Amino acid sequence: MVRRISAEFVAKDARRGSDRGDVVIVVDVLRCTSAIVTALANGATEVKAVKTIREARSLKSRNPASILAGERGGFPPEGFDIGNSPREFTQDRVRGRRIIITTTSGTQAINNASEARIVLLGSFLNVTAIAKTAWDIAEKENSNLTIAMSGKQGRFSLEDMLCTGAIINHWDNSLVEYSDAAYAALLAYRNASSDLPRHILTGNHAQELVEAGFRDDVLFCIESDKWPIVPVLREDSIKILEES
Ligand code: MLT
Repeated sequence: MVRRISAEFVAKDARRGSDRGDVVIVVDVLRCTSAIVTALANGATEVKAVKTIREARSLKSRNPASILAGERGGFPPEGFDIGNSPREFTQDRVRGRRIIITTTSGTQAINNASEARIVLLGSFLNVTAIAKTAWDIAEKENSNLTIAMSGKQGRFSLEDMLCTGAIINHWDNSLVEYSDAAYAALLAYRNASSDLPRHILTGNHAQELVEAGFRDDVLFCIESDKWPIVPVLREDSIKILEES
């Protein structure tokens, strides 16, 4: 069977993947899904991704041993333990701990996708693992695939589109048909892949992070296959998918 590959560019449209009954991969390269992948790879037991600062604080007050993480405007809100920099989610800090995270766009996309039959979290850091596992699940479930990019504050983000293209590039094009958005992502990735850091650093979001002092985060987030794990969202909790 030929599988249809769709792509959504902004967080609010992530629910379209679940409306279609697709397996959904949420991508927020800078920096939310990269941070969550890193937290789990470094031994966090689970990640709770919530939409609002209020929800995050309330969860933390009920689970004081959890790490309260996230950002608004790129920086941790008052009283948060850490921000949204993947480099803060070190083994020393997160091993054996639960993380509560809220971010401007990434956690919105995750929650908007949450009704889908399967929600996986992708980034460059786990690009091959996520592409392979999502494809295997889609085969097993006989379903199509959507990549739901978070974008930034309701706007398209270059780095999310390039990561989407990198995921799609793993799939055999004789076995798929593409939405225009998915095909555009694939074409963009193929055009940019020989120098991804340069292209991503040209993007608006990367530029804003560089100006805010987070250049090392951008470089960290564009490394491919650093963490070959597959985070899955189940019952409001993100954990590493165990082999079935
Ligand atoms: C977001 O979810 O909006 C991003 O992760 C923002 C950021 O770069 O921290």
